[in-house]
Amino acid sequence: MKKKFLNLGKQPLANSFLSSKSKSSKQKEFFYNLSVSFDTKNYLVSITNPVNPKMQYTDKYAHRASESKTMRNAFKKTAKNLRDKYSPKLIMEIGSNDGVFLKNFPKKSVIAVEPCKNLAKLTSKKFKTYPYFWDKKLAKKIFNNQKKTDLIFSANTISHIPNIKETFQSIEYSLSENGVLIIEDPSLRSVIKSNSYDQFYDEHVYVFSALAINNIAEKYDLKLFDIEEVENHGGSLRYHISKKKSKYRESIRLKKMIKIEKNNGLNNIKTFYNFANRVKKSKKELIKMLKSLKKKNKKIISYGATYKSTTVFNYCNIDNKYFDYVTDTTLNKQGKYTPGKHLPIMSPEEGFNSSVDYAFLGAWNFKKEILNKEASYIKRGGRFITHVPTVKILKK
Ligand code: TYD
Repeated sequence: MKKKFLNLGKQPLANSFLSSKSKSSKQKEFFYNLSVSFDTKNYLVSITNPVNPKMQYTDKYAHRASESKTMRNAFKKTAKNLRDKYSPKLIMEIGSNDGVFLKNFPKKSVIAVEPCKNLAKLTSKKFKTYPYFWDKKLAKKIFNNQKKTDLIFSANTISHIPNIKETFQSIEYSLSENGVLIIEDPSLRSVIKSNSYDQFYDEHVYVFSALAINNIAEKYDLKLFDIEEVENHGGSLRYHISKKKSKYRESIRLKKMIKIEKNNGLNNIKTFYNFANRVKKSKKELIKMLKSLKKKNKKIISYGATYKSTTVFNYCNIDNKYFDYVTDTTLNKQGKYTPGKHLPIMSPEEGFNSSVDYAFLGAWNFKKEILNKEASYIKRGGRFITHVPTVKILKK
């Protein structure tokens, strides 16, 4: 049974950045009610009423995984590890974005699946790309007349697809006998631990745990046999899944993780009610801090026009009363306005200058990279604000 535990209010689509022209036509913007539920039967946490994916993954999709050095390096390392471990001959990625992962494999051995046409266009110049949503129809189209795949990789995508049943059935169909499915997504334990409620936005239909993935795989001819904890996106889990009868055996670290998650109450609704109370507190504290800084006439901006920030800005009602603008390195976000609250976005070169007193870490998942990069800002007395895991001004 699904139990609702968190209400994040009316939200726009997290990536629906507005061009300056449409900024004035507020009525055009789409809003939905963002609430989050826990399924007491299979321990799956999900958005209560997901948005239609066709509205989200369009030919204007802004996120480019290659933009971040941290992610480029992370994908390169993951590709090497998977190559060494499983020696796959044919690799398919579901949600290949701009090819940041697949480019680490020989061109002829990869298949890319990417429904955002602008991104698919980028990779189709380099390797076989299917510009469609992942579903049964596509799985049949790809694998009806060809050998099944040895490795399916999907980072930050499976959690975005509302129809989990069809997703797993299509994967089951496409995997070879000893083929491996690798899923990487933000982990529920990290979200709860770091109070990062902004991991909930329209695209994150699910926030997975080992407990939930284990229960889901069970329903198909699949089994979860191994798991890794990774730092990406503020704490993620990498799930290793195969056919039930494959040669792979359940690892010790998987058993340990299941135990840790149970000890952390990820199978208990009370954990989620407590989390919801902490989220409400976080909102109050952030607003209180911003108000007090504005009283002192401080200039505050936001660093990184992340999708996560859409949740924070709209839930906490943060607009130009508090933040002058947002800086972001992504070219096609610059010159636009944030969804819902319409804060202007500019390049760091333009906006991250000596007039800034405080910068809210919208991209808190890149805290290390950003603090390193902005050492001179900190040295001259500039400060970063974060809400993860608690609302505070970072000393250094
Ligand atoms: P991302 O990590 O994908 O978060 P989300 O999924 O919530 O959007 O986005 C990070 C954003 O932050 C991206 O738009 C690039 C931007 N960014 C900067 O502007 N400067 C930086 O130094 C880094 C690391 C990221």
